[in-house]
Amino acid sequence: VLLQPYNTFGIPARSRYFASFDSEAALLALLDEPRAKGLPRMILGGGSNILFTKDFDGLMLKNDIRGMKVVNEDKDHVYVKAGAGENWHGLVQYCLAADMAGLENLSLIPGNVGASPMQNIGAYGVEIKDTFHSLEALHLEDRRVVTFSNNDCAFGYRESVFKKQYRNQFAILNVTYRLNKVPRFNTSYGAINEELERMGVKELSIQAISQAVINIRTSKLPDPAKIGNAGSFFKNPSVDAAQYEKLKAAFPQVVAYPLADGHFKLAAGWLIEQCGWKGYREGDAGVHAKQALVLVNYGHAKGSEIYALSQKVVDSVKEKFGVELEREVNIL
Ligand code: FAD
Ligand code: EPU
Repeated sequence: VLLQPYNTFGIPARSRYFASFDSEAALLALLDEPRAKGLPRMILGGGSNILFTKDFDGLMLKNDIRGMKVVNEDKDHVYVKAGAGENWHGLVQYCLAADMAGLENLSLIPGNVGASPMQNIGAYGVEIKDTFHSLEALHLEDRRVVTFSNNDCAFGYRESVFKKQYRNQFAILNVTYRLNKVPRFNTSYGAINEELERMGVKELSIQAISQAVINIRTSKLPDPAKIGNAGSFFKNPSVDAAQYEKLKAAFPQVVAYPLADGHFKLAAGWLIEQCGWKGYREGDAGVHAKQALVLVNYGHAKGSEIYALSQKVVDSVKEKFGVELEREVNIL
């Protein structure tokens, strides 16, 4: 099956088998499919954080479990449970419409609910761990449904147990978020304040923050429907204070943010731009002209070509700054 419509990079890789499921029972039936016995399996959401560098000789399982509803409430919170196959921004809009606060800064992130805990999606000062309550996941081998609490997921910056030790072992079925009845506005990210001002917003609301985030995102991130991409290709690297001071001395313009543990997070987009990559193009593989952290497919790039370009970027940043970039996108 051609996977091109199922990944936002638009890579024409193939999988030996492909099926979608809209319930736990349907998934269980697919896991028993005789033709796929012994083959590797992979759960797919919206395909917006994957780079296929080769064909997949196994069974690709697209999660289409739907449904969103309020399942519980306490004095300060509303609990919303969503099927893993629901579109992420659809969930954000559902919450905005009902004045349930907490996801507004995460507006317009592509992909589905089920992948949101995978890498603890984050943007504009907020991460999913801030509102995540729990999830249910089916273990693909022993077929048990396991409930994971926020702690169980071991969320970190673009990390969780599902991206690391449990990679490809669980199918996330649904996620429950704990939203706030009274909003706690997060405008810590400078660009949001600037955009709110530009919009002429007098009274802050979760709807206004969402709109500001949408405006910023559409101004610099490429729309996958037009140019293939998977968002930031690399993580923003962190360095210790000593290394930061050295970098700062050599490159006074370096963009960095202090972390609570004394380390500094560097803007990888700045490092890559300084190496001259911004707007670079080689065949149909390129570095986005408005955001150097995003690698793009202008049409017919192969996954292996995008990957090769990413390696050149890693090597040059290492050489110029002594900093090792780590890929954020899942490479297959
Ligand atoms: P997929 O790409 O389908 O899958 C990603 C990984 O999760 C794969 O390893 C897959 O096997 C696994 N997976 C998916 N669903 C399940 C499931 N139900 N059970 C088990 N495993 C599963 N990310 C951010 O964090 N912040 C951003 O601001 C951001 N901006 C982006 C902007 C653009 C333009 C694009 C294209 C991407 C951006 N991303 C961002 C990355 C991406 O949107 C997120 O990582 C998103 O959560 C991926 O969702 P998906 O459903 O497309 O996952
Ligand atoms: N910068 C440059 N040149 C560039 C790009 C960025 O110099 O080409 C510098 C600028 O100084 C800018 C700073 O880097 O102020 C930060 O850039 P931006 O606000 O665009 O954010 P980012 O660090 O590049 C991260 C996330 C994004 C998320 C935004 C907003 C990572 C890996 N990426 O990008 O997430 O949307 O912040 O919070 O942490 C994703 O994960 O796919 C993703 C898009």
